[in-house]
Amino acid sequence: MNELMRRVLFLPEQASEYARGVDRLHFFVILTTMVAATGVFGTALYFFVRYRRRSDTDVTPHVTPRPIHEILFIGGPLTLFLVWFAIGFPQYVSLQTPPKDAMDVYVQGKKWMWKFAYPGGPSAVDTLRVPAGRPVRLLITSRDVIHSFFVPALRVKQDALPGRYTETWFDADRPGRYQIFCAEFCGIGHSSMLGEVVVMPAEEFDAWIADQRKGLTRAQDAAPAPGEPVRAASSVVDEGRRIAAEQGCLKCHSIDGSPHIGPTWLNLYLRHEKLKDGRTVVADEGYLTKSMMDPGADIVAGYQNVMPTFQGKLAPPEAAAVVEYIKSLQTAAGVSGPSEPPIYEPVKRPRQ
Ligand code: CUA
Repeated sequence: MNELMRRVLFLPEQASEYARGVDRLHFFVILTTMVAATGVFGTALYFFVRYRRRSDTDVTPHVTPRPIHEILFIGGPLTLFLVWFAIGFPQYVSLQTPPKDAMDVYVQGKKWMWKFAYPGGPSAVDTLRVPAGRPVRLLITSRDVIHSFFVPALRVKQDALPGRYTETWFDADRPGRYQIFCAEFCGIGHSSMLGEVVVMPAEEFDAWIADQRKGLTRAQDAAPAPGEPVRAASSVVDEGRRIAAEQGCLKCHSIDGSPHIGPTWLNLYLRHEKLKDGRTVVADEGYLTKSMMDPGADIVAGYQNVMPTFQGKLAPPEAAAVVEYIKSLQTAAGVSGPSEPPIYEPVKRPRQ
């Protein structure tokens, strides 16, 4: 049934369980709406003939519907819509909540190519290699204009925005090669902004990435220890910690909660910060990235505008890594502040 519907609707392959789930809902919606549309069309056709005007004085009498009809005609479609929502919403939540053990890959869109970088190396252009059957989280950003990372076979599409980063994830379970498109018109090369996801059997992927890293400089001490799974070898958080130390962030920002030249990074993520000009902001990914690139824009009350900009000094994946490091600095007390906590629990997920 699934395969038949997929072919009838000319849909691409389904390379993950998520893709199959999305399609199941899609087929259900298509089938119920087609059946209903056929019913409406058939009834209309029958009524045209049955109640056609037979003479000049033949006027259809006014019909007053009974309450039971009102209930049926409003309740039926409403129930269907609610069922679709009940199936679709958990899918949305799942797509927004990458598993904690996901392997991270940075994705950077630029006119007109896709760049991929694994924490600890290597990096690649237009070809994203991932292990089959393991979750992969993508931290997506753009160097210039808005792009959109789209892999039809995974039913995953996520905008790539300059100056901030977005995330999505997938768990491809069928080795193969799958097309990547850019799904946001971004200029003359938009239609050629293509790439490929290469899903490899997990052991093959481990061997491949270990081999790639052998060739990289040892300076980052990122090479995995023998026998250690690759994804534990180096996390984005470690990468962020290293960059923050190198760039001197920690000279002004403490990580133990004490205020210094700048606000502390402890429990900073999703904190409600009062600004000098009276506004309040939530320190989410967008705010943290903006504060690195344009530090004078939103000065926290009680601090001086002394931070230099890191525009041009930090590559987008590096800025993303620092943000991930800040996100990891959460105590059990978690989010503090005057307002309500975030709606979705999974948003604050300290990654260690
Ligand atoms: Cu990039 Cu369209």
